[in-house]
Amino acid sequence: MPATPLRNGGPKARIAVIPGDGIGKEVTAEALKVIRAATSKRKRPIEFVEFDWGADKYLQENISLPQGAVAMLRDEFDAILFGAMGDPRVPSNQHAADILLGLRFQLDLFVNARPTELFHERLTPLRDCRPADINLMVLRENTEGLYVGVGGFFKKGTADEMAVQEDVNSRKGVERIIRYAFDFARSHSRGTAGLQPASPGAQRPLRVCMSDKSNAMTFAHDLWQRTFKSVREEYAEVESRHFYIDTLAMELIRDPGQFDVIVTNNLFGDIISDLAAQLAGGLGLAPSGNIHPGKTSLFEPVHGSAPNIAGKGVANPFGSVLASSMMLNFLGWPEEARLLREGVKSALWDGVSTIDLGGKKMTTEIGDWLANYAAKHS
Ligand code: NAD
Ligand code: IPM
Ligand code: MN
Repeated sequence: MPATPLRNGGPKARIAVIPGDGIGKEVTAEALKVIRAATSKRKRPIEFVEFDWGADKYLQENISLPQGAVAMLRDEFDAILFGAMGDPRVPSNQHAADILLGLRFQLDLFVNARPTELFHERLTPLRDCRPADINLMVLRENTEGLYVGVGGFFKKGTADEMAVQEDVNSRKGVERIIRYAFDFARSHSRGTAGLQPASPGAQRPLRVCMSDKSNAMTFAHDLWQRTFKSVREEYAEVESRHFYIDTLAMELIRDPGQFDVIVTNNLFGDIISDLAAQLAGGLGLAPSGNIHPGKTSLFEPVHGSAPNIAGKGVANPFGSVLASSMMLNFLGWPEEARLLREGVKSALWDGVSTIDLGGKKMTTEIGDWLANYAAKHS
């Protein structure tokens, strides 16, 4: 087995685990179980270090993202497995912004990769839609836009109050995510494992769709338009097009099969990735990778802490397991990644699922099933 070039250069993959709040804790525990099962027989050296950052720590110690945390993660870890942040006891969600957005921004994780794949046709709410029709990747800009926190209040709390939230877009920021989308399209194809690295001679590069609202947002999204036009010229073999975000929402429902790669800004990517997730069974199944190629990157399910079901043992851990699969791919371990992904697919085909997907299994039972699958097939 060739040595895997891990980014911290050490002999082991070092994973920081941040379960967070609510069902984040429940699903992360199961994902860890499954990763351990998939890596142990193959003797993949992997070490997990857990951090208790989240609402409890914030409320008890007033600490959200501890001092020095970003440098430690950057220097000592290959990847981060993240659960979810959000707690009704912190109505401002300040800790979530500090920790999650803090890590995305400060680790400069400019790609938020959110794949949607229909594993079984019973999972989609769309009529006459087969697995081959839904296999797409939303690439969400993850470090700029309306999320940067530039703005403020004027006359707060009075009848004349005003609030401003700026949409911040840099040429560098827009260009790197659009370029990533074209590079991704060029190097991947549709296959049995979703959008997978293309083998030599693969049929065609994937198609790219850039989405903005440049007809109304005439400064910020004009920059997206101009950048898209100049970058696409360098990728003549990649078919590309543009939809305004409102049209994209409609087209995704009307004919999801026309999409391979969607690239858009931070806020639109947040919204459209939940919409896409629901086309393939919902948030319980949706994974994401917050990535900067070559740097410590963060993997998490797309869903939040789900306070309405937290503590009941019924959360769906598939999203976290699929995010872990993306993480194993990122570490350069595609076989182990495949065990996790195939496990989820087999479970769904065998009708093994939690209540959100119409099943009866508890969170831990799904974790046990997937761990067992990984151990049996490794
Ligand atoms: P949510 O994703 O937590 O829940 C939305 C709905 O989907 C709920 O009905 C929930 O029960 C269901 N759901 C979500 N994940 C599920 C799973 N794995 N299994 C079964 N059902 C699942 O979104 P929300 O309710 O809008 O937000 C709750 C909190 O989570 C808020 O504080 C929000 O800010 C936060 N949040 C955090 C993240 C993150 O950490 N990345 C993402 C989204 C929301
Ligand atoms: C997500 C979440 C976050 C986002 C929230 C919790 C800030 O919805 O990861 O999709 O908007 O990015
Ligand atoms: Mn979201």
